[in-house]
Amino acid sequence: MATSMVCLAVLCLMSPLLLAGAVLGNPGYGGLFPHFYDHSCPKAKEIVHSIVAQAVARETRMAASLVRLHFHDCFVKGCDASVLLDNSTNIVSEKGSNPNKNSIRGFEVVDEIKVALETACPGTVSCADILALAARDGPYWEVPLGRRDSLGASIQGSNNDIPAPNNTLPTIITKFKRLGLNIVDVVALSGGHTIGLSRCTSFRQRLYNQSGNGMADNTLDVSYAAQLRQGCPRSGGDDNLFPLDVVTSTKFDNFYFKNILAGRGLLSSDEVLLTKSAETAALVKAYANDVHLFFQHFAQSMVNMGNISPLTGSQGEIRKNCRRLNNFQ
Ligand code: HEM
Ligand SMILES: *[C@@H]1O[C@H](CO)[C@@H](O)[C@H](O)[C@H]1NC(C)=O
Ligand SMILES: *[C@@H]1O[C@H](CO)[C@@H](O)[C@H](O)[C@H]1NC(C)=O
Ligand SMILES: *[C@@H]1O[C@H](CO)[C@@H](O)[C@H](O)[C@H]1NC(C)=O
Repeated sequence: MATSMVCLAVLCLMSPLLLAGAVLGNPGYGGLFPHFYDHSCPKAKEIVHSIVAQAVARETRMAASLVRLHFHDCFVKGCDASVLLDNSTNIVSEKGSNPNKNSIRGFEVVDEIKVALETACPGTVSCADILALAARDGPYWEVPLGRRDSLGASIQGSNNDIPAPNNTLPTIITKFKRLGLNIVDVVALSGGHTIGLSRCTSFRQRLYNQSGNGMADNTLDVSYAAQLRQGCPRSGGDDNLFPLDVVTSTKFDNFYFKNILAGRGLLSSDEVLLTKSAETAALVKAYANDVHLFFQHFAQSMVNMGNISPLTGSQGEIRKNCRRLNNFQ
């Protein structure tokens, strides 16, 4: 903050042209800015939004899958489209990591968007910006743009840096803090679970008495837990799907937080926001009571997450195909 004020004060003495450049490259956005493609690809946002809308019309869940894809991109080496790279001679794809395997989806929609953008403005719009623009369910926010695409992937990063559903709250908070995100970001972004689905394997641990930890998770509402056991048996059914928001799973609202208060948060990582810290619990209650507050914080936190270590300037490249490097082998 202090830096940008000093910066602005100095620039006020410079030419209007330089000032405009400095304002566009707002340091608060980590060098990214919403109007990045205004001249080089004026239809970029429109193209992304129309293909996303078609994909969501075909399958409602796709809105959720695309939000998660941006999250899993940003948490590994920053928002650089590393998550989109397939296996090749020099790349071990993040798609095979524990959090992603048999789980992350939406790649075909990203491909479709990329083809349309390469036709409209070849070599201009990055795959990382496509992910940021496609992750747009819920409240409106202006998406800072200008990210470039990575020249590699990190399966270790994908395994270690993305929080797991059975991580403790301190571990989850630490994983966010390492990326410059705070407690408000943890709770507001967890609200992304107001849409989308989870596999049985991601929460089975909560349903059954495990030898070792005594008993099943007693924070779950009894009838909700019984309902979950029906479709998520002790063994088998790993890929059976359940809504993360049991009340309104296709609507971006604040029922995710209301559910947590009622013992109906699906994942352990959802439930611990209420029971393991007074600070996160206060936010869960505030968002459950005030959908506008949640929307406002979610929008800001999505911008914060989208600003994690972007490649800019001449770093990385603009991939022609999001699944591989331009000089792939
Ligand atoms: C706080 C730590 C988080 C944990 C532990 C976590 C964990 C999970 C898990 C286990 C699933 C289900 C995956 C499966 O079983 O296939 C899931 C789904 C999902 N997550 Fe998270 N998540 C977290 C944060 C976030 C954030 C920050 C966002 C985005 C803002 C997000 C958005 C989603 C969405 C939209 C889905 C549903 C995807 C679909 O239906 O395809 N999550 N998450
Ligand atoms: C990529 O290749 C590795 C072996 O090098 C394999 O274990 C992994 O499953 C592959 N990932 C995908 C997404 O196919
Ligand atoms: C968390 O889940 C993973 C994958 O199911 C499992 O291997 C691990 O033991 C679990 N950790 C804890 C602390 O329960
Ligand atoms: C959980 O299992 C252990 C033995 O594995 C048993 O002693 C205990 O009573 C069980 N608890 C519940 C609540 O069923």
